[in-house]
Amino acid sequence: MPQDVASLSDTRDEKLAELLHFGPIIPVITIDRLEDGVPLARALIAGGLRLLEITLRTPAAIDAAAAIIAEVPEAIVGIGTVLTPDDLERAQTLGARFALSPGATPALLEAATRSVIPFIPGIATPSELMEALAYGFKTVKFFPAAASGGIPALKALAGPFPQARFCPTGGIDEKNAKDWLALPNVIAVGGSWICPSSEISAGAWDQITNRTRQTISSLSQNSGPR
Ligand code: 3PG
Repeated sequence: MPQDVASLSDTRDEKLAELLHFGPIIPVITIDRLEDGVPLARALIAGGLRLLEITLRTPAAIDAAAAIIAEVPEAIVGIGTVLTPDDLERAQTLGARFALSPGATPALLEAATRSVIPFIPGIATPSELMEALAYGFKTVKFFPAAASGGIPALKALAGPFPQARFCPTGGIDEKNAKDWLALPNVIAVGGSWICPSSEISAGAWDQITNRTRQTISSLSQNSGPR
């Protein structure tokens, strides 16, 4: 690792902490039709969520993210499903505020240490977490969260890794989000349940806004102090 990585990662962690303060839920968004991006972002923002993860899973993703950045200034757009250094570069060039990956190859971690965009690598095991920490990434995505041991796994990781902060995704929904968020080492949760593809393709923006609003309200009613 280069000498300057430690100071870079501190800055990145501060930036990430500031951004994730706008959570604690990050919708994981897959856009099939470019024209759905802006109304979807507006629907989520109307419901109270500003952090958005646009996944690089469809040909429309980059253009949709660009349209949201240009037309919806309240949106804090992150790019997800970043699998390669090129994907990370695309996210940064686009003007995304942060980037996330379901995993963390050495090539991606290396590129991310040299990049200024705040990056959240994905981990599912202690060794993967140790690798991310070694590169200076203390805030990581825990993916696939439910399938990788769920809440007991994150509780267990808190012992040896008190410095790590997690954003679990994969199997989070309105029924269990508050249980995940109650863990002291969970900084935010992500998931696609907030904006299901069936509702996006139907243009059911009000439904998405209502679910978002209800989810946020149930979190504030039921969650204890974090
Ligand atoms: C992700 O990339 O974070 C996941 O695909 C989200 O998982 P979910 O669809 O189970 O919410």
